[in-house]
Amino acid sequence: MAIQRPKGTQDLLPGTIEQWQYLEETIRSVCREYGYEEIRTPMFEATELFQRGVGQTTDIVKKEMYTFQDKGDRSMTLRPEMTASVCRAYVEDKLYGQPQPMKLYYIGPMFRYERPQSGRFRQFHQFGIEVLGADQPIVDAEVISLVWNLYKRLGLIGLEVHVNSVGCPICRARHREQLQEFLAARKSKLCNDCQERFERNPLRILDCKNPSCQEETVGAPTTKDTLCEDCSTHFEKVLAILGRAGVVYRVNPRLVRGLDYYTKTAFEVMVEEIGAQSAICGGGRYDKLVEEIGGPPTPGIGFAMGIERVLAALQVQHKLPEEKPKLFAMLIALGEQAQIEGFALLSDLRSQGMPVGMDLLGRSLKNQLKSANRQGVRYALILGEEELARKVLVIRDLTLGEQMEVSLVDAVEEINKKYQRGV
Ligand code: HAM
Repeated sequence: MAIQRPKGTQDLLPGTIEQWQYLEETIRSVCREYGYEEIRTPMFEATELFQRGVGQTTDIVKKEMYTFQDKGDRSMTLRPEMTASVCRAYVEDKLYGQPQPMKLYYIGPMFRYERPQSGRFRQFHQFGIEVLGADQPIVDAEVISLVWNLYKRLGLIGLEVHVNSVGCPICRARHREQLQEFLAARKSKLCNDCQERFERNPLRILDCKNPSCQEETVGAPTTKDTLCEDCSTHFEKVLAILGRAGVVYRVNPRLVRGLDYYTKTAFEVMVEEIGAQSAICGGGRYDKLVEEIGGPPTPGIGFAMGIERVLAALQVQHKLPEEKPKLFAMLIALGEQAQIEGFALLSDLRSQGMPVGMDLLGRSLKNQLKSANRQGVRYALILGEEELARKVLVIRDLTLGEQMEVSLVDAVEEINKKYQRGV
């Protein structure tokens, strides 16, 4: 049997890859406008980084990591997310010694051993940003408004931005206690996962999608009831800035995120139209993470969005740009000498930045023209033996059906003029 790609992974082929490139280019220009710089870290890291960073009790660390022993018997893990890696680099590469805050972004593959379904992959891609070294509410607002403005630029509509504050370790301990008290009598009615969460991570019960868990948690104390004054003032300021900046959000006191490192602001963006896996972006503040992995006390905040899910939303909402022809002109060279001359001409055109091609299959004139038309190419550059003898080139406009003759010496300049007009 032919070998198949692993479950939950995709081949990104020509025809689809243009959509990825379009999204990545839009992301990069928004990041440039906001002053974020790219960071690339290894695709695998010491397992301990994620155990300490993401948290031992999270689903990601407990069930979803691709962990292996390398040949030196070290435990390694394919990164399930990049926040921990960026913080590791911040400490290891002493980025705290540079002007602060560090404003970083990344685009790349992540790996989680989850049950594949529509919108959920084992190798998926994230675009994320992380701001390290700034604790002001305005930073939280900048991070959320960056993703809001990116979605606006892409033309996405019907987004729901849910915002919450999960508080600091002090408010969280209080919340945890109150929640356990509230749920103690209802524990047996919770799903198996939540019964297990009761001890190790009761806050996640608020987030469970199981209807009976949702019913049992109606009226449960939320983060809102347990925030300390500092966290509550911080949150109010974030909301005020967001409101003034025109970001439409909803405060969702039940939003707790699936990773352990969050403090204060947490948020998610949802698009219902793409189905069950509707979260296209998630993020928040993590003021203890850098310290947790051995660095100096450093506040941090960021988000990551699923590229596959954003593309699915763009597809459903018909917001992807139309496919454009890849080549501007096709050379049609007839005869061996014309091919040699034409090949040199193509090199000159390409070196000036024009995307041009020629037949590589030895097809007839008729079939070459047919192929040029099929590819949506605007111009055919015809060079036969007779043209070669007169040192001219025929430029045929395939859209208008007109053609002109130029001397071979002037050909590059003439074609470039047409190209510049078209771009
Ligand atoms: P996360 O919520 O685990 O957060 O993932 C962020 C986004 O990645 C999700 O909202 C979703 O769009 C996408 N995603 C996650 N898992 C999958 C999957 N299996 N298949 C397809 N898409 C997926 C984080 O990863 C944090 N590091 C975000 C962050 C950055 N927080 C602070 N800074």
